[in-house]
Amino acid sequence: MSKQTDVPALRTALLAWYDRSRRRLPWRALPGERADPYRVWLSEIMLQQTTVAAAGPYFERFTARWPDAAALAAAPREEVLAAWAGLGYYARARNLHAAAQTLALHGPPADETGWRALPGVGAYTAAAIAAIALDQPATVVDGNVERVMARFFAVAAPLPGAKRELHALAARFLSAERPGDFAQAMMDLGATVCTPKSPACAICPWTAACAARANGDPDAYPRRAAKAAKPERHGVAFRLERGDAIFLVRRPEKGLLGGMAALPSTPWEPDRWTRAAALAHAPAAAPWREIGAVRHVFTHFALTLEVWAGQGAAPSIAGEWSTDASALPSVFRKAAALD
Ligand code: ADE
Repeated sequence: MSKQTDVPALRTALLAWYDRSRRRLPWRALPGERADPYRVWLSEIMLQQTTVAAAGPYFERFTARWPDAAALAAAPREEVLAAWAGLGYYARARNLHAAAQTLALHGPPADETGWRALPGVGAYTAAAIAAIALDQPATVVDGNVERVMARFFAVAAPLPGAKRELHALAARFLSAERPGDFAQAMMDLGATVCTPKSPACAICPWTAACAARANGDPDAYPRRAAKAAKPERHGVAFRLERGDAIFLVRRPEKGLLGGMAALPSTPWEPDRWTRAAALAHAPAAAPWREIGAVRHVFTHFALTLEVWAGQGAAPSIAGEWSTDASALPSVFRKAAALD
């Protein structure tokens, strides 16, 4: 660390900034209040792959309906998956419900290691919960904090390879003084000041010692390795209609969108489907007509899903008629809503 990097002074400046500028977020305790571990855990699971703006309404709905771990544990799993629909990364909801059983039985773990043992709680999430809910020293490094570190120290190595280095730099700020506030202050600094584009260096409490600022190009950090293009996949979804209802199936437990309600579909393959090949996966012998296609980008591929509508045929596979598309993951919600 360079000579002018005075960790205690930087911590003090950041905490003072946080006391003035902290975001009000639904899962955050007010100053002086103790955070509720259940709410912190739930929020951190939601925020794993989802923005604060998108997670907010889900968090409010979940906590209104299931105010503690016992309530969530007692809920039928299908209801938890349905309430999660639209947030994506559905393994999170399955793990959430599994972890709730443990929390309801044993209460919240007392430290980072205890949290790490729960399904769906990785190294980052355990550190965040230990800091925010338990006020224990932990190095909490999300994408925001990586960016702050990459800029402050002008880290030349690109992400994702630089993750370990950025984590080690963040660990230098570890302290028993207000660890929960410090972790959230770092996140808020990244989210509101040290933003991905055009950071507001003029109001940053760390600006005087920031190496990227001194270099004159903070936007250039963190550097990133070029991403490989996503592979394309194709599928056909069958919208079997009866009045206002459509016919839904449940996805297999294992794999993408596991356990979620869905439209019946062909598998998703690299090549477009011929009509004959797709028809072999149809849920009924209806006069199918193509009404359009929807696009959805998953983590590992981009999908073009043709939507075929049909009426007046009885399904030949297990499923149920539904007039409510709200329990569907986004890709099928789009397919259900197609005109
Ligand atoms: N991103 C991940 N965890 C967060 C939190 N607790 N507050 C704000 N943004 C976050």
